[in-house]
Amino acid sequence: MLYLDDIKILKDKVAVVTGASRGIGKAIAISLARCGADIAIINRGNAQNSEQTVEEIKQCGAKAKAYQCDVSDFNKTSETVAKILEDFSTIDILVNNAGITIDKLVLAMTEEDFAKVLDVNLKGAFNMIRHICPIMAKKRYGKIINISSVSGIMGNVGQANYAASKAGLIGLSKTVAKEYASRNIKCNAIAPGFIKTDMTDQLNANVKEQVINAIPMKKMGETQDVANLAVFLASPYSDYITGEVIKVDGGLFI
Ligand code: NAI
Repeated sequence: MLYLDDIKILKDKVAVVTGASRGIGKAIAISLARCGADIAIINRGNAQNSEQTVEEIKQCGAKAKAYQCDVSDFNKTSETVAKILEDFSTIDILVNNAGITIDKLVLAMTEEDFAKVLDVNLKGAFNMIRHICPIMAKKRYGKIINISSVSGIMGNVGQANYAASKAGLIGLSKTVAKEYASRNIKCNAIAPGFIKTDMTDQLNANVKEQVINAIPMKKMGETQDVANLAVFLASPYSDYITGEVIKVDGGLFI
């Protein structure tokens, strides 16, 4: 596996990564730390996993701290951002990765199923952006990365709520990119395809086989495949890129 961390390109930067107790968020947090950034991670529940991530980040030589917060709670996210500012002094990079699924066909989906997924996946990202953008705008620097999904681009049976939230994240990313370009804040979205994590482990073997068959590269992606792109988008290498949606999907949606 190739890691994009040969040089400490993110030295002196502070990154906030939501949903980093495991999976893609954890890989992103560790990869940013390997490139020199200090990391604040935000999670809801599973404090033990969060502390494990913090330990692994510290082993990269970075400062790290975990904050318990439900990203869908506007006031809580505001309080948490204030605490992060106290502890880290600034914020340069925001990765909105926290996400959930409640998969059902439209006819079986309740109002609550729909609202819950939108609340975490889409409103959660808005909440973080809403509280962190003023900090970035003031210092005329910021990199925001929203973790969308190919489901948000192509739709997916059983995922009306999830696909809507991930499509919404694309609209949110493009709008933030336009509103904040003059403040030197870049905002891009990553659309992963099927990546090996606890989230996709829930899929039954049959579905997994169908998915793999549909991927031209005939395999699921690794969390590091997504993390490498996140590092690029967080780094000066991508300074003229904003409002983009980049897929990491082995060719699933070409
Ligand atoms: P995961 O289920 O392994 O991890 C999700 C993380 O989000 C966990 O750390 C969890 O604690 C956190 N989280 C959930 N709800 C939260 C809330 N309300 N407030 C704060 N934190 C919360 O998921 P995975 O697979 O690592 O996915 C990460 C992101 O990537 C998600 O946004 C997901 O939708 C997206 N994605 C994943 C794909 C995959 O194949 N695994 C494909 C496309 C997108």
